[in-house]
Amino acid sequence: MGRVQDKVCLVTGGASGIGRETVLLMAEQGARIVLTDLNEEAGQSVVGEIEAIGGEAIFVKHDVSSEKDWIRVVKTAVERFGQVDVLVNNAGVFVVKPIQETTEADWDFVNDVNTKGLFFGVKQVLSAMKKSTGGSIINISSIYGIVGASSASAYQASKAAVRVFTKSAAVEYIEHNIRVNSVHPGVIATPMTADIMADAEAGEALLGGAIFRRPAHPKEIAWGILFLATDESSFMTGSELVIDGGYTAT
Ligand SMILES: NC(=O)c1ccc[n+]([C@@H]2O[C@H](COP(=O)([O-])OP(=O)(O)OC[C@H]3O[C@@H](n4cnc5c(N)ncnc54)[C@H](O)[C@@H]3O)[C@@H](O)[C@H]2O)c1
Repeated sequence: MGRVQDKVCLVTGGASGIGRETVLLMAEQGARIVLTDLNEEAGQSVVGEIEAIGGEAIFVKHDVSSEKDWIRVVKTAVERFGQVDVLVNNAGVFVVKPIQETTEADWDFVNDVNTKGLFFGVKQVLSAMKKSTGGSIINISSIYGIVGASSASAYQASKAAVRVFTKSAAVEYIEHNIRVNSVHPGVIATPMTADIMADAEAGEALLGGAIFRRPAHPKEIAWGILFLATDESSFMTGSELVIDGGYTAT
């Protein structure tokens, strides 16, 4: 038996980075996967990887900032697997600019995906989860939703909103046995940070005060997400799981 045996897990942004490692790990642990992303080619390729290890997955093309898309995604998941047990709101975008250079379009782009898209996800999955015995919603925030840094204000505002929105949803839906938690990764080696980490000086600055002087492998975040998806975390809701190599400890 896997740790999420037969659970239906819907993961956004599953084509790359943390999302990809999460769907591979969950499939290895027995979950049935609904993987969504804007990037269809990469998403289908991850479905192929899951099938190659004997897992079950479908890809659905999805723009998380569209509520219409969310309605279609949840409907597809329920039609295919009958229910949704776990939602991982993982898709996200990052803009690096000082406040004075951040445009309204930058602000809207980041907040539409990272915050509004995540709100739509929680809102649309709740009816499916309420019909079954409950569920686990895992919202991917960031250490940048907890502490400040230079040149990431739109992103930081979006991830800070995710942090407390998670607690609102946790309080509101506890009576339906739906747990809602946030995950706060530090610096992770994914395409999102690749350009910055390729520059030694910028990479050092991004790592900041992290005690582990290295970025994490995305699987080190996927293990935490898996824990929140399982019943091993049954007493956790509204919590912040910080996985940051000690970044926020200093
Ligand atoms: N990499 C890090 O250092 C780091 C640190 C803290 C938090 N995070 C968060 O972790 C999550 C995953 O990041 P990652 O590093 O794996 O990034 P990534 O760029 O490797 O993957 C993000 C995925 O999201 C998809 N995506 C982007 N916009 C979308 C949209 N509108 N609709 C659907 N899919 C969309 C992309 O196509 C991509 O496949 C994000 O929420 C990010 O903010 C990352």
